[in-house]
Amino acid sequence: MGKIIAISNHKGGVGKTTTTVNLGAGLAREGKKILLVDLDPQANLTQCFGITKPEATVYEALKGEEALNPVMVIENLYIAPSSLDLAGAEMELSSEAGREYLLDEILTPLKDDYDYLLVDCPPSLGLLTLNAFTCADEVIIPIQAHFLAIKGLTKIIEIINKVKRRINKTIEISGVVITLYDGRKVLHRDIEETIKTYFQEKVYNTKIRQNIALAEAPTRGEDIFRYSANSNGAFDYEKLSQEFIERHKEKKLKNN
Ligand SMILES: Nc1ncnc2c1ncn2[C@@H]1O[C@H](COP(=O)(O)OP(=O)(O)OP(=O)(O)O)[C@@H](O)[C@H]1O
Ligand SMILES: [Mg+2]
Repeated sequence: MGKIIAISNHKGGVGKTTTTVNLGAGLAREGKKILLVDLDPQANLTQCFGITKPEATVYEALKGEEALNPVMVIENLYIAPSSLDLAGAEMELSSEAGREYLLDEILTPLKDDYDYLLVDCPPSLGLLTLNAFTCADEVIIPIQAHFLAIKGLTKIIEIINKVKRRINKTIEISGVVITLYDGRKVLHRDIEETIKTYFQEKVYNTKIRQNIALAEAPTRGEDIFRYSANSNGAFDYEKLSQEFIERHKEKKLKNN
C-alpha cells in the first residue's frame, strides 16, 4: 500500500513545490509509481509541468463534482492538477460536514495504485493543509537555509501534534529537507547546525543547493532531470530520492 506524504511549510518560497516535483520525478526514475497532488491554489506544481487548462482538478474532486483524474507526465509520474479555483475552496468547503476529510476520501482509495502520493501544500495552515495532514502518513518539511528558518516552525509542529491527537494518530514528521543551500556561506552552515539541533535525525543528509537550473526548469514544463541532467539540482534531487528510498526501506524493516 502506498504512502501519502504532505510536503508542507507555511512559510512561502522555501522550495515545497520544487521538492515535490523533483523528488517525485527522482522517485519515478528509481522505478516508484508516484502521484503528485497540487493542493495549492497558486497551481505552481501544475504550471511546472506546463499544464495550463487541466481537464479535471483537485478542486472539482474536493467538491465531489468530478473523480480525480491524474495525468501521466512521464513514466511512473502522475499529477492531479489544480487551478486557481482552488482559492475559493477554503471558504466554500469550510461549512461542509467532515470538511477536513475531503482529501482523505479522494486519496485513500488511490493508495493501492501508487507507491507514494506527494501532496504539495499551500504556504498556509488553513483548511487545505489540514486536509493534507488528515490523510497523510508522513510530513516532509522543506526548510530554506535562511536566518529566520526555524522561526514560526513551532506553529506547524503544534498543528501536526493536534491532528495526531484528534484526527490522524499515525501522522509523523518523517523528514526535514534543507533547501536553497550555499555551503560557502558561514551563515548557511550555522543554520544547518541549528536545524539539526532542533530536528536531529529527521534532517536529510542531502541538502538541496541553490541552483539556477531548478528555477529555470518549470519555464520549460520540465523536471530537473529532463531539463538539465548534469546540473547540481539534478544531482541533489537524485541523492535525495535515493536517501528517501533508503529511509523508507529501513522503516519497513523496523515495522516488520
Ligand atoms: N534549490 C533552488 N535553487 C534555486 N532556486 C530555487 C531552488 N528551490 C526553489 N527555487 C526557486 O525559488 C522559488 C520558490 O520555490 P518554490 O516555488 O518551490 O517554493 P514554495 O515553498 O513551493 O513556494 P510557495 O510557498 O509560494 O508555494 C521558485 O522560483 C523556485 O524556482
Ligand atoms: Mg509552492
